[in-house]
Amino acid sequence: MRKAFVIVSHALFIVFGLQFVFAAVGAFTETGDDNAYVLHSITGMAVLPALTLATTLLAVLSKAPGRLVALTVLPLGLIILQVLLAGLADGFTGVASSVVGGLHAVNGIVAVHVAVAVARGAARLTRPVLEPA
Ligand code: HEM
Repeated sequence: MRKAFVIVSHALFIVFGLQFVFAAVGAFTETGDDNAYVLHSITGMAVLPALTLATTLLAVLSKAPGRLVALTVLPLGLIILQVLLAGLADGFTGVASSVVGGLHAVNGIVAVHVAVAVARGAARLTRPVLEPA
C-alpha cells in the first residue's frame, strides 16, 4: 500500500507541474478562446481532484502520520481556490482581473510545493528505520 502511496503522490506532483504547461498551451493557442484551455480545465477540474483524493485514501490506508494525511487534503482546498480565482479573474476587468489572475498562478506554485512535500513524505514512509548499533 505504501508503494502505491508513493507512486500516486509522485503522479500528483508531476500532473500539478504539467498544469503549468497546459496553461501555457492555452495562452499560446491562436484562437485564444476558452477552448484553448480545455486540457488545463479537464486537468484542474477532474484529473487533479481525483489524484488528490486517491492520494489521501492511500495515505490513510498506508497508516501515514496524521500530519501527512492532513497535508494530502490541502491540494484539494488549493484547487477549489484555483477555481474561485479563475472565475473572479474572468468576472473582473482591468488591473483587478490581472491581479486575481496572478494570484491564480501564485496559488498554483504553492500547490506544486505542497504536492512535492506530500510525495517526499510518502517516500520517507518506505525507507527502512535504522536501529542504533
Ligand atoms: C498547479 C497549477 C494550477 C492549477 C491546479 C490550476 C487550476 C485551474 C482550474 C481548476 C481552473 C478552472 C477551470 C474551469 O473553470 O474550467 C483554471 C482556469 C484557468 N487557469 Fe489555472 N491552474 C494552475 C495554474 C495556472 C497558471 C500557471 C496559469 C497561467 C499563468 C493558469 C491560467 C488559467 C486560466 C487563464 C484559466 C481560465 C481558463 C478558462 O477561461 O477556461 N493556471 N485553472
